[in-house]
Amino acid sequence: MNITQELVIEHQLILTINQHILEITLQPSQVGSDKYFSIMNQYVSFIENFIDDYHHVKEEEFLFEALSLPGVLNTHLLISEMLCEHKAGRNALDLIKSGIRFSDYKEITQGVNDYFRVMSQHISKEEHILFSLAEKYLSNPIKQRVIEFYQDIEESKQKSMLWKKYVDFSEELTILLKQSCTIH
Ligand SMILES: [Fe+2]
Ligand SMILES: [Fe+2]
Repeated sequence: MNITQELVIEHQLILTINQHILEITLQPSQVGSDKYFSIMNQYVSFIENFIDDYHHVKEEEFLFEALSLPGVLNTHLLISEMLCEHKAGRNALDLIKSGIRFSDYKEITQGVNDYFRVMSQHISKEEHILFSLAEKYLSNPIKQRVIEFYQDIEESKQKSMLWKKYVDFSEELTILLKQSCTIH
């Protein structure tokens, strides 16, 4: 029974969109200011609705909880570190939102850079350390409960619509970046 495969698939979309957004902050003038702010608002929506209210809810409210049960891991330090990194991501998001509010490109770039750095390292730690521990040490009955919890979240957040919205966003960014490469 695998309980982290779906999270890894979600990571792929997160990493792709973060990379695209980072590239756009390197060349904001090439997309034009209206488009730039529209993209940044969609990015904020992606972080809030897909990453925090969907992916991180799955991790924080059940996977991390399961790993914190007595006798599963010998230390809670790793989970504390993961939660700290989610919080660092939210601080970077606040910077992006403040930059958008005041049309401050520098602040947006700083927030995007911080978010990219924090989430890239965080996802790597989850995939290389935490998820292997979860697969190895959680019992099948606990794994079954984790899966049921994920299914509840996926249903309540309308998984297929949520995915479609942000896969479309990712594809829009890919096309935009290709076009700006061709023009310049
Ligand atoms: Fe995480
Ligand atoms: Fe994650």
